[in-house]
Formats: sequence, structure tokens, C-alpha cells
Amino acid sequence: MGITPQQDPQNMSTFSQVDPQIAKLIKAEETRQQNSLQMIPSENHTSRSVMEALGSALTNKYSEGYPKKRYYQGNKIIDEIELLAIERAKKLFAVPHVNVQPYSGSPANTAIYFALCEPLRDKIMGLSLAFGGHLTHGAPVSISGKYFKAVPYEVGKDGLLDYTAIEKLAKQEKPKIIVCGFTAYPKTIDFARFGQIADSCSAYLLADISHIAGLIVGGAHPSPVPYVDIVMTTTHKTLRGPRGAMIMVTQKGLKKDPELADKIDKAVFPGLQGGPHDNQTAAIAVALREASTGAFKKYAAQIVKNSKALAKGLIKYGFKLSGGGSDNHLILIDLRSKNVNGAVAAIALEAAGIVVNKNGVPFDTMPPFYPSGIRLGTPAVTTRGMKEAEMTKIAAWINQTIDEIKKEKLPDDKQSLRSSTSSAGLKEKRAIFIREFRIRADQNKNLAKIASQVKALCQKFPIP
Ligand SMILES: Cc1ncc(COP(=O)(O)O)c(C=O)c1O
Repeated sequence: MGITPQQDPQNMSTFSQVDPQIAKLIKAEETRQQNSLQMIPSENHTSRSVMEALGSALTNKYSEGYPKKRYYQGNKIIDEIELLAIERAKKLFAVPHVNVQPYSGSPANTAIYFALCEPLRDKIMGLSLAFGGHLTHGAPVSISGKYFKAVPYEVGKDGLLDYTAIEKLAKQEKPKIIVCGFTAYPKTIDFARFGQIADSCSAYLLADISHIAGLIVGGAHPSPVPYVDIVMTTTHKTLRGPRGAMIMVTQKGLKKDPELADKIDKAVFPGLQGGPHDNQTAAIAVALREASTGAFKKYAAQIVKNSKALAKGLIKYGFKLSGGGSDNHLILIDLRSKNVNGAVAAIALEAAGIVVNKNGVPFDTMPPFYPSGIRLGTPAVTTRGMKEAEMTKIAAWINQTIDEIKKEKLPDDKQSLRSSTSSAGLKEKRAIFIREFRIRADQNKNLAKIASQVKALCQKFPIP
């Protein structure tokens, strides 16, 4: 075991002496990230400077309240840091008001709903989870669906937003808030059209740009700011900052409701949270500075180029992509045409060194734990400096991987009907299959061969 604080009163020992177990696990995770391709579209490799801010003495401070209005002493420096983060965000996104305190995206959305809606009475209209929305956009299992009346909308058969249908639903249901901005939508969002829809039924319009914030500030996706009242973003996806979130109020929002900024601030603190994570605030400020550079603009453009190149490569191998391709950082593969389950594919790809997530596809008939698709994206591999040529290689490896496991069939309903297995029995059968498949995938020589080629590529593109 490690050294205790009593054995080291001057705190001179290294991390690995104090806690060898955790230090070793962190090292192992760093190695995993280095030697494989991180292609979960909500992930990224943040900079060393962001990590330094996160691991700084700021983690020791309590600063409940807002700059110059704190409940604790000793906050002069923290005030400067938070004000700097706010100023940078205001400038970068061109908004008049920003709250940088939300711990993460889910509490930020929750605070917005509590700021504007009457619990158990008002309606929130967001894209259904099964069609690419986030849990916090009104899913029944989330506080957003439990405390507010959810009005879910869907994408059309082509996987694209059907603005006419959304408008019709909004006029019929008259929600208090409409949420636009998604978790698994590969195409450009028409924020101006959403603005018209919200205006037509006097709803507040919230753009949840968690996934595409980096593309927006980098000029690779249109900004929602002129058309919406509130913008929420996580800071750890394409924006490449620490885990965290920001809530912004636009000029349009302030015109509609002059108290909007105040309502949001009060809902974050003291409504939902206590002391802000000042180390996180500083790290957000660092990320915002990085995101305001010309280099970041190039990065954002490259994310999209890479996603389009990867989509093109996958289509060439006969993969069916939801929405027909990608306009942003994200690709949703519908594996039904390949007759491979998404959960099985994700396990096989991990064994091949390509880390993606299983994901439902529009009109999926499979349950969320065994969905029909996978979701992947290019923010993290682009941070490593990979370009279109590498995406072509990755498409080929994905194709080889799926080909390798095409005989692996998840037990299906038809089988359970034949053998009169109950739905609980089917669940158990599937769980056993997945457990055993994981072992088979880890022992598969062809997948290991792909993993070693992936590793060789990764070594040419170290994590910055
Ligand atoms: C669109 C969207 N909103 C909100 C969130 C929630 O963010 P967090 O996981 O930080 O709570 C996510 C996370 O994936 C997201 O994709």
C-alpha cells in the first residue's frame, strides 16, 4: 500500500508512492487512450493546460454565489477567474450573458427547466431519446421527463428532422420550452427554422449545442445565437475543454424576457447546485482561449472533413448511414442491413482498437441495451492530427471487423418464440451471449491483427 500523510508531512512523495493502485490505473488508461482510436463522438483529448488547471489548487476553494457576491471569504482571485471565463465565453459565442457554473450538461438542462417551467404542469418538447435526443430532453427515465410533461418529436423515415411535423406538434401542444440540438444527429441543424417554430407558439427556444459547440465557434456549423433564447453547451466534447457546462442567454432571449438571465442564474445557484467547481471554471476559461485561435478554426473544419471522409469510406463498403451521411462530427451506422447487432459490433470494434458506442437508430425495434446501430465521430482522432487518409484506413478496418463477426448472432425474439422462452429468459440468453462473445472477441486473431495495425497508426499520432 502507499505512504500515509503521517509518513510524509511535507507532502514530498510522488503520486505513485502515495497511491500506487490509482496511479497505475491512470497510467493504464493513458496507454489505452494512446494505443487505440477514441471515436465516441462526445469524447475528446483535452490539452495539458486544461488538465493543469483542473489539477490545480483551485480545487481547494469554496465560492458559493457569483463573482463579487460570494458567501465565503477569500474569493478575490476566484472572482477574477470566473469573470475571465464569462468574458471569454461572451465574446466567443457573441452572447450578452453566460453562467459557467453548471457541473455538467445534465444539471445545466435541469436548471433551465426549473428556471422557466412549473413542475408537473409545463411541457418540454425535445427530440425523443430513441431518435437522437438526450436523456435530459424529456426521456421518461430522466428528471426532465418525470418532473415536466414531455412532448417528444421524431425524425422522419429518412433520418432527417421534419420541420413541418415539428411545427405542427408545437402548435398543437404549446410547450413552454422547445429543445433543439441533439446527441445522435449527423446533419446540420436549421436553427432559424426552429426559431420560427418557437415564435409561432410563443415557446422559449433552447439550443443544446453540447455536441457541436466546437464546430460553431470554429465556424464549421451555423450558430443558433440569433434565433434562440438560451444556449446550453457542455464544455468537454468538440469544444475540447474539461467536463462541465455553460448556459448562455441571447439578446433575443433578453428581449423576450428581461429577467431570463437572473432566472437562469438563480436556478443554477442556489436552485440546484452549491459551490462551483473553481478548478473546472479555470479549465473552461483555458479551453475558451484555445478555442478562439485560428488553429482551432482549422481543427473544427478538419473534424467535419474527417467525418465526411469516414462516411464516404463506410458507404463505399455498403454501410447504411442514418441521414445518408455526416455534416458534422458524427456518424450513425444502421447495422440492420449488415445483419449485425450494434452491441456486438461495438465489442468487436473495441477488440480491434476502435472505440465507439452502440446506439439506437431511428425506428429501431431493438431495446436500448441491444440497439441496431453504432455511433462514432472524429473529434478525438482529429485532435491527434489525423486527416482524410487515416479516415479511409479506419473505414476499411471497421469493414473488416464487421465482416469478421457477421456470423455472431444475438439471440432474437423469433428464437425465443420457438423455444417459448419468456422475455426474462431472452434477456438472460442475450446477456450470456454478450459475455461469451466478449471473450471470443478478445481471443480473435484477426481482430487482434487489426488492433496491432491501429496501434501502429496511433503511435504516429500521439495524444497532444
Ligand atoms: C446534447 C446533450 N445534452 C446534454 C448532455 C449531458 O451532458 P453530461 O453528460 O455532461 O451531463 C449530453 C451528453 O452526452 C448531450 O449529448
